Amino acid sequence: MGATPEHHTGGEDPNRRDFIHIAATVAAVGAVGGLAWPFIDQMNPAADTLALASVEFDLSKVELGQQVVIKWRGKPLFIRHRTGKEIAAAIKDDNAALRDPQTDEERHKAGKAEWLVLIGTCTHLGCVPTFGGGDFGGWFCPCHGSHYDTSGRIRKGPAPKNLAVPEYTFLSDSKVKVG
Ligand code: FES
Repeated sequence: MGATPEHHTGGEDPNRRDFIHIAATVAAVGAVGGLAWPFIDQMNPAADTLALASVEFDLSKVELGQQVVIKWRGKPLFIRHRTGKEIAAAIKDDNAALRDPQTDEERHKAGKAEWLVLIGTCTHLGCVPTFGGGDFGGWFCPCHGSHYDTSGRIRKGPAPKNLAVPEYTFLSDSKVKVG
């Protein structure tokens, strides 16, 4: 039976002293973190807001007959370089029975029929349609089967509206600014 040695002197418990020391260190780190955070917090929204408000895009990156998808305000944006055939198909159907009537000309900038800029979310429940499917040679939404034509107009399926055209302007022949 050994006695438990007690080496405490001066009535102070070394374990307790260590604990207080560690607690003070954590509190100091916490205070620095607390100071740093508001600065970071203030900078982030401004940068994000700027990036999200508008986006510039170089059209020379998109070959004829191709489409790119960029992100804008948290949504996919389709930038499609239409072929003559796609444009002709869209114009031909200007007088078809359209659920959300719009001519092809109303869906692009004057003299720029080859460029379509569309918000790439299906107007039914927001899935992202793919190009080249469906019955009208445009976009097809596989979620519930909405078919859009080469102008992005809804032609068949449950979606109520055409693919939306965002606000955008041409900054030059090869540069657009969306938003
Ligand atoms: S979300 Fe596209 S058809 Fe339903």
